[in-house]
Amino acid sequence: MSAPDSTPDTSVGQPAVLVARRVFPEVLARLRQHFDVEANDTDDVWSPEELQRRLQGKRGALTTGSERVGAELLAACPDLRVVANMAVGFNNFDVPACTARGVLATNTPDVLTETTADFGFALLMATARRVTESEHFLRAGLWNRWSVDMFAGAEVHGTTLGILGMGRIGQGVARRGAHGFGMKVIYHNRSRLDAATEAECKATWVSKAELLAQADHLVLVLPYSAQAHHSVGAAELAQMKPSATLINIARGGIVDDAALAQALKARRIAAAGLDVFEGEPRVHPDLLTLPNVVLTPHIASATLGTRMAMANLAADNLIAYLTEGKALTPVNPEVLGA
Ligand code: GLV
Repeated sequence: MSAPDSTPDTSVGQPAVLVARRVFPEVLARLRQHFDVEANDTDDVWSPEELQRRLQGKRGALTTGSERVGAELLAACPDLRVVANMAVGFNNFDVPACTARGVLATNTPDVLTETTADFGFALLMATARRVTESEHFLRAGLWNRWSVDMFAGAEVHGTTLGILGMGRIGQGVARRGAHGFGMKVIYHNRSRLDAATEAECKATWVSKAELLAQADHLVLVLPYSAQAHHSVGAAELAQMKPSATLINIARGGIVDDAALAQALKARRIAAAGLDVFEGEPRVHPDLLTLPNVVLTPHIASATLGTRMAMANLAADNLIAYLTEGKALTPVNPEVLGA
């Protein structure tokens, strides 16, 4: 007979939740104070079938952008009440399907804004000034003399910064460009910012055609939707300056990666910096071979502090909803009132 366990079983009567990806132990410990938690302790993405199986009987799920929550999954998981995405983007959720089933969806805005804007600027700088290309050259042992135009890149300060999508992160990029680098900032967004925010970002609204034609550095920060699919494809690339750089910190699918690879190969534009890709973690093979592109593995929000804040916010949403019927950052707040 085993010795009696003095630890009370706190899981009795607690709602069950699923954590679909490895997160920080501190965050799991917080969740375990409220819930009976089943957690993926690996970085492996569960297949849709596996996710559906593990969601049986679960009231909540903490997901990342890799887990698709669509109508079929929701229909197969009738106990599910809340899906908390650890990302500001939520294009992995079918939000109307969530709402129709009374499932609350949440995301993690604000906590990653400045960190992601920092990274947008890091990628812009690395791309314009050929940081990674020149580092590869050096590491390959090819640097044996000074040369007048060796890795001569594009100017950043004082140039025109274009921003497509002007939400919180876009505004962060704009502030960095305008105030830190003396750039002229132009943006295009479905809706214009109010005058005070435009003044704070020193940003001027222009049409998409003007944005493409005038930007020396074009940063994409718009959320992914079916309408935004291939917002930048061959036609748009053809309207950009041949000297321009393109930075994508938005989502794979916003850019037509095959068309971009063609444009980079033909030097139709000078260079690109990409943190997100169509079909990631796969990357279009042509992009991997081109020197004039900086490639990073979807890390724009990746500082430990910010990732911790994102995980905690996702956990807070689960706790608030399943214990009090509230949510901090709902995507479909109409579910709260229902
Ligand atoms: C990352 O891509 C996010 O949406 O937070």
